[in-house]
Amino acid sequence: MQEVANKNWNPTSWKQKPVKQLPEYPDQQKLEEAFETLKGLPPLVTSWEIDALKNKLADVAAGKSFLLQGGDCAESFDATKAPKIVNMVKVLLQTSFILIHEMGVPVVRVGRIAGQYAKPRSSDFETVNGKEIHNYRGDLINGYESESGVRTPDPERLLEGYHKAGLTLNFLRALADEGFADLHHPEQWELDFMQNNEYYAEYEDMVKSITKAVRFVESIAPDTFSTLQKVDFYTSHEALNLYYDSAQTRPVPRKPGHFNLSAHMVWLGNRTRELDGAHVEYFRGINNPVGIKVGPPFNIDETLKLIETLNPNHEAGKIVLITRFGKNVIEDDLPELIRAVRREGFPVVWSSDPMHGNTFNTDGGIKTRNFDDILSEVRSAFAIHRAEGSYLGGVHLELTGDNVTECVGGANGLDEKGLNRNYETFCDPRLNYEQSLEMAFLVAREWKKSYL
Ligand code: PEP
Ligand code: CO
Repeated sequence: MQEVANKNWNPTSWKQKPVKQLPEYPDQQKLEEAFETLKGLPPLVTSWEIDALKNKLADVAAGKSFLLQGGDCAESFDATKAPKIVNMVKVLLQTSFILIHEMGVPVVRVGRIAGQYAKPRSSDFETVNGKEIHNYRGDLINGYESESGVRTPDPERLLEGYHKAGLTLNFLRALADEGFADLHHPEQWELDFMQNNEYYAEYEDMVKSITKAVRFVESIAPDTFSTLQKVDFYTSHEALNLYYDSAQTRPVPRKPGHFNLSAHMVWLGNRTRELDGAHVEYFRGINNPVGIKVGPPFNIDETLKLIETLNPNHEAGKIVLITRFGKNVIEDDLPELIRAVRREGFPVVWSSDPMHGNTFNTDGGIKTRNFDDILSEVRSAFAIHRAEGSYLGGVHLELTGDNVTECVGGANGLDEKGLNRNYETFCDPRLNYEQSLEMAFLVAREWKKSYL
């Protein structure tokens, strides 16, 4: 597989390179101890699952299926609670069912979940009450509270992150395996929030249509659905804290190379993708499928070199190019990138992240996104891929199953004044439950325009 390319690589060879977005831990001894402990703990996922996801992504690259990647911008340790996890699984399953039903192709579900605990920031420090303190970088690195001293990077958090990811994953697997995901009972999907939505009737029809299809198949082939009770669900996070990810990067018996066994897929953030940087060094050695965020500022030649570096054997299903340009920039930048990638013959999965280029602050200083801007980037992405004869095979969304008020717009018309009602995110604003279902309908419509 990646043996040749991985010469001079090992899980910690990144330490020889300049590293961005990872603060110095003041207590190096404690860091070393936490790292060694983490190295000895059992893997969260298996190489078989990782290979299976890669095969499924190869189908996406070939235009046979669709990738739905979504979840929190930043998970917090405190939110490792049943209702949060249930709601997240629910919204991801329901949005995927909408896509499957509307598009008629398989959907690969990848959550930003069970490890999405580290965040890039624009500055290392901030001043609070005249004192300079570390910026909050996600629960995997430090705490959010600005007064209590928890902003100092603490290596113990690497272990807490592992445990919280393990608990989340355990519950997620149980939910996805039995009962909850059961296609026999789409009537149990909660529709309360949808009642005011202009798509409510369509959504209800869709649920009825799935229920009918299930009954029909059951009546002619009663055993078919025992396997349908299980749904595939994969995990992903930004591999930003390289101590966390490299401690869980290991060889496995009878397979070449190394796997990051903390998640099925990891992605390289828009701010850490320098060719000679530590993150790219780490990413070039792992067998997992990897996402690459591409948005301003970026350079076509460097992006091509990056894809070549991370996937020298041009393996299908290995690279997911996640474009996040912003609704105004996408028209200028995406066509050229598509042509360049095609010229090189790289078999990438194209995915659109319509969230990260469309964030703004309200006059009152609240970080938000407008549903219409998000939709506008989705529409442009589909239109551009359609015009270029290329397959847009996925979307990357920040969403939650909770009824939060973080993004304005959507059919329920949340306005800026309403944002304070239930604004929970520690980081970027997410689509709430209803906005997510609505977005899924609209994504499916755009896809159908392009590919049916
Ligand atoms: C993110 O996905 O939360 C993120 C920080 O994205 P990007 O690297 O594209 O800015
Ligand atoms: Co984000």
